[in-house]
Amino acid sequence: GRTLTILGLESSCDDTAAAVVRQKDGQAPEILSSVVFGQTELHAAFGGVVPEIAARAHAEKIDICVKQALTQANLTLADIDGIAVTAGPGLIGGVLSGVMCAKGLAAGSGKPLIGVNHLAGHALTPRLTDQIAFPYLMLLVSGGHCQFLLVKGPDDFTRLGGTIDDAPGEAFDKTARLLGLPQPGGPSVEAEALTGDPKRFRFPRPMLDREGCDMSFSGLKTALLRARDQVVAEKSGLSQQDRADLAAGFQAAVRDVLMEKTRRALTLYLSENPTHPTVAVAGGVAANKSIREGLETVSAENGVQFTAPPLALCTDNAAMIAYAGLERFRLGHFDDMTLVARPRWPL
Ligand code: KG4
Ligand code: ZN
Repeated sequence: GRTLTILGLESSCDDTAAAVVRQKDGQAPEILSSVVFGQTELHAAFGGVVPEIAARAHAEKIDICVKQALTQANLTLADIDGIAVTAGPGLIGGVLSGVMCAKGLAAGSGKPLIGVNHLAGHALTPRLTDQIAFPYLMLLVSGGHCQFLLVKGPDDFTRLGGTIDDAPGEAFDKTARLLGLPQPGGPSVEAEALTGDPKRFRFPRPMLDREGCDMSFSGLKTALLRARDQVVAEKSGLSQQDRADLAAGFQAAVRDVLMEKTRRALTLYLSENPTHPTVAVAGGVAANKSIREGLETVSAENGVQFTAPPLALCTDNAAMIAYAGLERFRLGHFDDMTLVARPRWPL
């Protein structure tokens, strides 16, 4: 073993990011720098991420982002042991920008190139932040993903189930649009729900009658649309309280589904007899306080440790990619100039 210093690049959705992570053998990993250029304002007028605009912004920003990450870490490329990059899944234009940039850096410096699956980056974050031991149960909930993973090693994931349609983050974003709240929808719906009554509107808890860990969230937005239109028809408009109650009802439904499905995933996980059983959550939706608390409750019920990364490491960032690259480096899993950018790439 030895000290490894890895540069990571991330550009698969609407954040251009670069970071440097270092780990001395046998010690906790350290984030030496983590730079994120968000694109929220660029997409604001369109009500969602526009792939062509995202791709251009990544292409423009990725080099400067890398430069800043190295400068903030007080390093040059010569001090880096490997270059990790998100090679998918994601919007292909952005992923290509990252992969091309990483290939250029690797070719220019002679350092090894390491392609990282974006989902593996999220899934390994609890090891970066809390040195969680394998195997642990991971609930990955973001704008594009929702799945339960049994994380057995840096390159060993078993999917226990997941959404069959929308991801919860997507549902939060659509809910915000229906209620006239700003994007990204997660934080604005959560803020609105604070003053709402979650019991006024009883939204469905889809698929709880079905066995297993699969989930569905698309029906929820239809229910929300119907409830909203009914209120609008009755009172010819939405009051502040109506909006808060709708947001609270929606959030409670998502939380209840995630809690119940986590109970089931836990049963499968605990049958593997982990020594230090841990439930971890990652992805943008893990920033939601009410959902975090729900998952914490389920973990406590089962005597299992619960961990959630700090907010900045729940949403897209490059520190998680650098760290996943570091774990791959230790396994000797490298890539070369044939590395391809993949729009779809299941774990
Ligand atoms: O992981 P992420 O940054 O990007 C990917 O989807 O990979 O997650 C972004 C998603 C968005 O849909 C956003 O609305 C949601 O995470 N989100 C939240 C919260 N903060 C962000 N959802 C619920 N509550 C939040 N506080
Ligand atoms: Zn993500």
